Amino acid sequence: MDTVVNLNGRLVPPGEAVVSVFDRGFLYGDSVYEVVRTYRSRPFEIDRHLARLGRSAERLALALPWSAAECRVEIARALEAAREGAPADPEAAPWNAGERSIRVIMTRGAGELGLDPALAKDPLAIVMVTPLRAPPLAAYRSGVACRVVGIRHDAPEAVDTTAKTGAHLANVLAVSEARRYGAHEALLLDRDGLVTEGASSNVFAVRGGRLETPPLAVGILEGVTRGIVLGLARAAGIEVRELPLQPAALAEAEELFITSTAREVLPVTTLDGRPVGAGRVGAMTTRLHALFREHADRAAGAR
Ligand code: PDD
Repeated sequence: MDTVVNLNGRLVPPGEAVVSVFDRGFLYGDSVYEVVRTYRSRPFEIDRHLARLGRSAERLALALPWSAAECRVEIARALEAAREGAPADPEAAPWNAGERSIRVIMTRGAGELGLDPALAKDPLAIVMVTPLRAPPLAAYRSGVACRVVGIRHDAPEAVDTTAKTGAHLANVLAVSEARRYGAHEALLLDRDGLVTEGASSNVFAVRGGRLETPPLAVGILEGVTRGIVLGLARAAGIEVRELPLQPAALAEAEELFITSTAREVLPVTTLDGRPVGAGRVGAMTTRLHALFREHADRAAGAR
């Protein structure tokens, strides 16, 4: 099996991975989650992901049914059960071939209908292991298109946007809007019109040879990949600035790229239908992706 679900500790095939319609994750998005990936079949940066899961749960006052140590064990069990490989994808980038995506979801549980979290019982812990879905090699060579969408980023004052929660409707609608324009990813502005992040990624610009990205203070997810890229850039002597960005800053950038667990460092060569810089993958993006690839290879080999 290439897809296995660990449902509260029970390993089941996807068809049997069903939850109650009374579960608050289903009803209200009352849940937290993480998406981890493997390199050489081992989970990458699992400590950072589980730490973020813990922080997300704290912000929602959601009691996690598993400790980080239990999570690690349950992830390993699901990975082991999903060991039989998926059929090879000829378009996959070589470093993604045969790798897995691991989605960890914890919900507040089911209970009598009603918003009050005190009604929740039986929190749910889920690990979904699926074949990794990542951009094809061609996307790294030519870059992808992004669209600054009309729908705005969730206000951090409503639900803490630094928490990775299951309440994702704005992101769903943002992707739908981007797709209507043939774009790979949606970029969202906040209500002041400042750039925040992608629907499921962080965004970086290169301007005047410097690397720029919105600060965490605008209410974005502290991406694990973002953190690694910033660290690698600083270590390589690249000037880095975390600062509020207007959409015009993206439009005039020499280079743009987005980061996420599955995408790593993905060049963006078209923004809102216009070429970014020279319309080709830029030197800084290529360099940072190479540094990231080395980092991931080292991490995979070091365990
Ligand atoms: N998305 N911003 C948002 C809103 C995200 O949902 C994600 C991740 C990121 C990038 O974070 P990281 O580098 O830790 O993957 C930024 C995951 C992968 C997802 O929902 O599929």
